[in-house]
Amino acid sequence: MTMTRVTGTGFYVPDRVVTNDDMTEFMDTSDEWIRSRTGIEERHWVTEGETGLELSLKASMNALQAAGRSSTDLDAIVFATSTPDQFCPGNGTLLQHQLGAGNIPAIDIRTQCSGFIYSLSVADAWIRAGNYRRILVVGQEIQSTGMDLSTAGRDVSVIFADGAGAVVLEADDSDRRGLLAFDLHSDGSQAQHLWVESPGSKNHPRISQADVAAGKHLLRMNGKEVFRHAVELMPSSTLAALDKAGLELEDVALVIPHQANLRISEMVKRKLGLRDDQIYNNIQRYGNTTAATIPIALDECVRQGRISAGDIVVLTAFGSGFLWGSVVVRW
Ligand code: UT7
Repeated sequence: MTMTRVTGTGFYVPDRVVTNDDMTEFMDTSDEWIRSRTGIEERHWVTEGETGLELSLKASMNALQAAGRSSTDLDAIVFATSTPDQFCPGNGTLLQHQLGAGNIPAIDIRTQCSGFIYSLSVADAWIRAGNYRRILVVGQEIQSTGMDLSTAGRDVSVIFADGAGAVVLEADDSDRRGLLAFDLHSDGSQAQHLWVESPGSKNHPRISQADVAAGKHLLRMNGKEVFRHAVELMPSSTLAALDKAGLELEDVALVIPHQANLRISEMVKRKLGLRDDQIYNNIQRYGNTTAATIPIALDECVRQGRISAGDIVVLTAFGSGFLWGSVVVRW
């Protein structure tokens, strides 16, 4: 049976580093508050004119290099972002052009923080069905251009950041290593706890001066509700995915949770009874880059030698939608 194996990982974040002290120039906050409530010490934001497409191109080139492949080896692109460079079309097709990948299919997946997990599941299905053998999966986000940087928006803007991560997936006919099982969910009744209201086609015009004045184009979050659900649903989804794979927690070498808040990751660790070395966090340096957190963390783990061939790795995410899910991988 064909399996889907990760053969290369890569990431890229903008050069501009924004520290917690830098945030105090925009709003009433402090390094102490941000560190103690979120774990974040610094994040990367784009400079004026730097685009998500540029970030994703660099992350993709890094992943292709790690896989020993060139863009013309690719059969398809699956691109996760909730913040495409423009409303229409999405970034996937633009990346196809920038990569010079030929007229291969490219789709955008809009499932926010869970975007990378959902994208892996789509790419896995395409590979297992025999449609394609090499797929680039990207998670990319620019949040810094859509946040309220005044004190009123400080609960959101100290958390979110910009970045891109990518993996090359390849069909593996040896039936031993690769993506083993997924667990995916949604609950649209909670959509307004983390959303951007405008622009939208339900509005005519899609965005108005009044919408901008009311800040409807900015990311809004009910942090307590998001937090409460995240700490329940990432652990339960991790267990469900392991169950589908016929594995137990004790089989797991590493869990990489979506980097939403260090306190959320700590609670996920406690609820699952994981040791410190079984969970990876890098939110301290990057903040929450939505669809990009997991591929960025995955690439760091691979390059640091935290993951070896044959290891069981679980990726788990929760976020806007609400949407959540997990995947179990035999590395
Ligand atoms: O990617 C998935 C989506 N995001 C998440 O998973 C995030 C989930 N939620 C969270 O991480 C947390 O809810 C936050 C970090 C957003 C907020 O932490 P909290 O412990 O829930 O704080 P809070 O909202 O209850 O606010 C406590 C206090 C408030 O002041 P008062 O009303 O007690 O006087 C806030 O106004 O902290 C204040 N506050 C801040 N103070 C300084 C909120 N944000 C800040 C800030 N700096 N940046």
